Amino acid sequence: MSQRSKTVAIIGQGYVGLPLAMAAIAVGWKVIGVENSPSKHEDISAGESPVEDVPSADIQSGLANGTYRISNSVADVKEASIVVICVPTPLDDDRQPDLSILKKAVTDIAPHLASGTLVINESTSYPGTLRDFIAPLIEQRKSTPEVEVHLAVAPERVNPGDVKYHQKNTPRLVGGIDEHSTRLAVDFYSTICDEVVEVSAPEIAETAKLLENTFRLVNIALVNQLTQLCAVQKINVHEVIEAAATKPYGFMKFTPSVGVGGHCIPVDPMYLSWWAERNGDKASIIDRSDEINLGMPLYVASRVSELVSGAASGKRVLILGVAYKPGVKDVRETPVTALRDDLIARGYEVAWHDPLVADWEGLAPVDLSWECDVAVVATAQPGMRVEEIAARGIPILDCTGIFKELANVVRL
Ligand SMILES: NC(=O)c1ccc[n+]([C@@H]2O[C@H](COP(=O)([O-])OP(=O)(O)OC[C@H]3O[C@@H](n4cnc5c(N)ncnc54)[C@H](O)[C@@H]3O)[C@@H](O)[C@H]2O)c1
Repeated sequence: MSQRSKTVAIIGQGYVGLPLAMAAIAVGWKVIGVENSPSKHEDISAGESPVEDVPSADIQSGLANGTYRISNSVADVKEASIVVICVPTPLDDDRQPDLSILKKAVTDIAPHLASGTLVINESTSYPGTLRDFIAPLIEQRKSTPEVEVHLAVAPERVNPGDVKYHQKNTPRLVGGIDEHSTRLAVDFYSTICDEVVEVSAPEIAETAKLLENTFRLVNIALVNQLTQLCAVQKINVHEVIEAAATKPYGFMKFTPSVGVGGHCIPVDPMYLSWWAERNGDKASIIDRSDEINLGMPLYVASRVSELVSGAASGKRVLILGVAYKPGVKDVRETPVTALRDDLIARGYEVAWHDPLVADWEGLAPVDLSWECDVAVVATAQPGMRVEEIAARGIPILDCTGIFKELANVVRL
């Protein structure tokens, strides 16, 4: 086998690309990790992992034994038979899909692709992205018309911080643009994953990925709306959810929260909504769910106010846990930002504490001894000693529902 046929290049070494790189190395691939963020490139070059789920030791051993190389040059894709794209696909300021990063990655790699290369898109996007967006870009930019490029979609399902499900035991959806591309992509993922699910077209894989995350968005919104309705009628929503969850089929438990955050749940469904609108339709259930979840931080701020006696001026609120979910340091799209902003707008002095987050939008955390009138648990970070606050007699609004045994705790 040639070096090229054993080499995979992965564009983007973040939460998706880096775990994939390590999983590929573990089964015998040589990996070139292409990363254009200077700080991330520097960290990885020094053997420091920027991703919680990837131990630095794995990077260090890959760098040392030559199975892993970190590069900041897209031209290196010429050395690979497979190129996997794992770059961000965010929303713009109007909450519309922003494919500019994906466009740049595809445009940059296209002239360097050797004939016969399989390009796989793992970045989440709307149905038709591979066929209508990526394929034409590669066609326009490849070095000569004779270069043959195979194309497939394999949406990533990684759940950062999850110790049970990872690359190997999470079934992988694969849809190629033609039969040969599908075969090549299935063969690749079969080396890494226990189960590869071949679908009939890239659009099936792209839409399935959006359905998975939209399912979560809608159900989170449903329970968040029910929480507000029950609070007015003095019905304990937690007891309601536990009662419903005793049904052994047809129900999945979701719990109240400050809202949704991270790179996926608040973002991906909007790609589906945008796609529907572009096609002259309306995904109204997505739009309404988005509104309900975006409104949650404001609702939580109003519940904080209920725990503070008198005017907001001069009162101090401590936010506990600012990452978008427990067990990670990731603050991207965290709904806690909107909660903090609304509390400040109401006149409170606000500080935050999170054992996993060292810096949040340029602001440093305070320690638990910070004097406050009320605390709000936004994210249940492991190692966060909420009981110390409770022991000081400070009222606590718990948005996670897990500190019900502590004194002075009111659940959302
Ligand atoms: N994070 C998750 O849990 C998750 C799960 C499933 C799917 N996804 C999807 O996977 C994609 C990537 O997400 P992520 O969380 O890994 O993002 P990330 O920001 O953690 O990593 C992406 C990396 O790509 C790099 N990059 C951007 N353009 C580049 C280029 N032209 N060349 C080289 N490097 C480039 C960035 O610097 C960054 O380090 C997104 O579409 C996301 O929606 C993410």
